[in-house]
Amino acid sequence: MRILEVLQARLAIALAQFPLDVQSYASQIRPTNNAKFGDYQANCAMPLKAVLNEPPHQIAERIVAALQVRDLCEPPEIAGPGFINLRLRDDWICEATIAMLNDDRLGVPDPPNSRTILIDFSSPNVAKPMHVGHIRSTVIGDALANVFRFLGHRVITDNHLGDWGTQFGMIIYGYKHFVDESAFSQSPVQELVRLYRLVNSLVDYHAAIAALPDAQETADQAAVAAEQAERAARDAEVAQPERRKRKQAAQTAKRKSLAARETLEGLQQKIAQIDIDPAMQTLAASHSKIAGDVLRETAKLHEGDRENLGLWQKFLPHCSDEINRIYDRLNVRFDHTLGESFYQPMLGDVVQRLVDEGLATESEGAICVFLEGFDAPLIVRKKDGAFLYATTDLATLLYRNEHFRPDEILYVVDSRQSDHFDKLFALAPQVGLGHLRLVHVQFGTVLGPDGKPLKTRSGNNANLETLLDDAVTAAMEAVCEPERSAKLQPPLTDAERQQIANVIGHGAIKYADLSHHRTSDYRFSLKKMVALEGNTVAYLEYAYARIQGIFRAGETTEAEIAANATRLEINHDAERELAISLLRFSEALQQMAEDYAPNALVDYLYDTARRYMVFNDNCPILKAPDSATKDSRLALAAVTAKVLRAGLRILGIEVVPRM
Ligand code: ARG
Repeated sequence: MRILEVLQARLAIALAQFPLDVQSYASQIRPTNNAKFGDYQANCAMPLKAVLNEPPHQIAERIVAALQVRDLCEPPEIAGPGFINLRLRDDWICEATIAMLNDDRLGVPDPPNSRTILIDFSSPNVAKPMHVGHIRSTVIGDALANVFRFLGHRVITDNHLGDWGTQFGMIIYGYKHFVDESAFSQSPVQELVRLYRLVNSLVDYHAAIAALPDAQETADQAAVAAEQAERAARDAEVAQPERRKRKQAAQTAKRKSLAARETLEGLQQKIAQIDIDPAMQTLAASHSKIAGDVLRETAKLHEGDRENLGLWQKFLPHCSDEINRIYDRLNVRFDHTLGESFYQPMLGDVVQRLVDEGLATESEGAICVFLEGFDAPLIVRKKDGAFLYATTDLATLLYRNEHFRPDEILYVVDSRQSDHFDKLFALAPQVGLGHLRLVHVQFGTVLGPDGKPLKTRSGNNANLETLLDDAVTAAMEAVCEPERSAKLQPPLTDAERQQIANVIGHGAIKYADLSHHRTSDYRFSLKKMVALEGNTVAYLEYAYARIQGIFRAGETTEAEIAANATRLEINHDAERELAISLLRFSEALQQMAEDYAPNALVDYLYDTARRYMVFNDNCPILKAPDSATKDSRLALAAVTAKVLRAGLRILGIEVVPRM
């Protein structure tokens, strides 16, 4: 049952006596964060004052007189100017909580209208090493798939691999010119990564050399401008507000100058990386047109050139192995993996259809769709005949609609692609897909300690696999140190410690990612992520293991408790607080699903674990004063274990029985 929904429905009935849009006022009821104001509080009487022209207290009285909540609440109280405070009845709480014990859906009702939701997530560009940016899409997408499934919807997951882009031009070029055959046959993935990096650095090198003069000039000018602005701001003769204005201008100019310097230094670094090594320098000199050549290799692949297509087919399985290893480690699966290449045969028809229907027109040789409200058109075919990312996405959309018949499609993709999706979504109704709900579930960037996009020690974009290894090592140090492990009875074995480190290490990366609102950038700090204190996965796992420890000490199991429990009793505030939190599980899932925001569930689980700890500290379980209290507390702990386990599983995280 969703308490909030029930209360809103009851409030709506009570509000029906007034001539107004009942729903918007009925939704003005919230869980409180202070028991003093009840467990839920409705504050619609205040805004109604203006509508009904009555004192809010009087309105609140009329609402309360009509409000039928006796079955689950104490008599409502009116506080302050007209707040309606609702306190759940203890006997109702006890009954509802104990019912969760033998309910695998943990009080979550079946959806009134089950939808088919297709989730496009992870979708890395293969043929280059997967980096930390991909973790966000993978982890958020997986959690969303899990929550919608748990809520009773039909979910289809599809990994839209970037398996047809320029990165293949890079490794094809690399293979043709630089391959070490024996290295390739021994460890193809490693060799492909090496080739990718090599070609990429040569392309970057020449691009940096070409960009250097302009960057130098920009940096010089910005430095001069900053100096002038600084001098102007220091002029003591000038009075306010001009002085303040100048100060601000100086700050802006300084920022610009720093940014220009940084760009310049970035270029210089790329050049130095090659120049420092005579062999690389020679290589760079003999491949001076590499950027154009790489594009030509890609174009040849797309045109169906036999040799390049053969190489692509040779590389692809190795690229898949590489990403599948990561998915195995993260325990993420997909129903479908239909990459960009799958849609290539359909692209010509898609463009033709747009032209036939008068949606696309030629502009400077390219085929474009001009959409209302957008400055730039959506280009679906370039002048040279090449199709684009948008063309593939449109073909994908049409295919998905036909084959999977979804009601809704979620694209879990970096917020930097929002313009692309805005245009795609604007076009959809014009090609007969107006019935689809299309959502760009966007997310921000993972930052390093310096506040810039995260890099690894080697300076590359943080490689995902080393990152996972580091997390497991950090977890081992933080939660499995020998002293701690020895305290457990029996002491943890090495295998158990490794298992715990794996769960906490991988879990920490997922949990930290999901604990931030997805649209915000966040700073990556392994140390904080694996810590036992704070809003971390280790804290939750510890709470869970503690519960299991109590069951072991009491020589009982969750199943046994569930089979025997008959009633719950509330003797202490901590029991009540914990039980109410458990009853809100369903609400937390609902909130996560509504906003596509896993952090809603993370916050909920953390809060629940904290309440469990307070309960644990205040209410002896095995040493309870009598057996009825003991049974009741065991039951409460068992429901907590169930909720923590189910919640973590939705986040894609396993639990450990001991730590
Ligand atoms: N491969 C793309 C990238 O890594 C993401 C694809 C997202 N999905 C889509 N249908 N466009 O940038």
